Amino acid sequence: MLVLGIETSCDETGAALYDSGRGLLGHALYSQVALHADYGGVVPELASRDHIRRTLPLTQGLLEQSGCGTRDLGAVAYTEGPGLAGALLVGAAIAHGLAYALKVPALGVNHLEAHLLSPLLSEPAPRFPFIALLVSGGHTQLVRVAGVGQYELLGETVDDAAGEAFDKSAKLLGLGYPGGPALAQLAERGRAGKFHLPRPMRASDDLNFSFSGLKTAVLTAVRGRTLDEQARADLAAEIEAAIVEVLTGKALAALEDTGLRQLVVAGGVGANRSLRAGISRAAGGLGCSVFYPELEFCTDNGAMIAFAAAMRLEHSSLITHHSSLAFTVRPRWDLETLAPQSA
Ligand code: KG4
Ligand code: ZN
Repeated sequence: MLVLGIETSCDETGAALYDSGRGLLGHALYSQVALHADYGGVVPELASRDHIRRTLPLTQGLLEQSGCGTRDLGAVAYTEGPGLAGALLVGAAIAHGLAYALKVPALGVNHLEAHLLSPLLSEPAPRFPFIALLVSGGHTQLVRVAGVGQYELLGETVDDAAGEAFDKSAKLLGLGYPGGPALAQLAERGRAGKFHLPRPMRASDDLNFSFSGLKTAVLTAVRGRTLDEQARADLAAEIEAAIVEVLTGKALAALEDTGLRQLVVAGGVGANRSLRAGISRAAGGLGCSVFYPELEFCTDNGAMIAFAAAMRLEHSSLITHHSSLAFTVRPRWDLETLAPQSA
């Protein structure tokens, strides 16, 4: 079955075609970075309006490039949540309109589940059960993934997400939005250890995280001082090292606690090279394997939405929504509330 996936939860418009027999046929992405750059962060109303402008042309272009027509679609999937309410409503309305016109099901997908399953789009793919470290702009979670729809939350951030720690620290360093990639780039020219930042909750005996103290420590380091270019790079390197060390330590602790030997790193922060190097080195030392989505599927994209929907369609009892003109979105939607996989 051919599934069209539409992603509009935040500042990226994504569309993709996933076929349950042939795999990913194509995907397209439009990033709103330039639109929000002047404001230093995502402006929800501007995001919604831009999704309205982009979603259909992006989808039409994708269908043409992939040599498919709307009549070939067996289902239309969209991000139902979590995310920005207005932005989600755009994708949901378009998906339901299309599905209704084509008389196919419309499937609301959980964005976090889509991130968790995204490494299964690449080869070699992990096998269930595995541990997933989900690190995005809004979430930092360790999840035991036993199968599609079977998610056990092992730990999560008690305040800021890892992506937020990157973004807020980047702002304090005078870097533009989005801060994570900009801070990572600056860190490449610096050395960790010249500044000393805390590793919050690194030694706590649970699998939770906390990043708001790190942001405060960065504020203290920059306040009232003029840092030259090298000092800014050194501070960026120390910030990145602190975040990577905490994420790596907790991810390894989750592997040890559960006895599982496969770790998946998903979400936008998973694109960070230093995190990938740190985690791969540490997990390798434990004899565990680490799986990463392709870089283009780490940050928000339509492919993971189409794929997660296709996985759920394989287990039809997991389909929560059929095409109708009544729909809703879920700006907050916990993974653990998702329906379990049927036997
Ligand atoms: O998964 P994602 O695209 O969107 C959410 O669902 O939140 O993640 C976006 C987050 C942002 O905080 C961004 O700064 C961060 O991922 N990010 C990075 C890198 N690329 C994206 N953080 C650090 N290093 C990167 N290379
Ligand atoms: Zn995301």
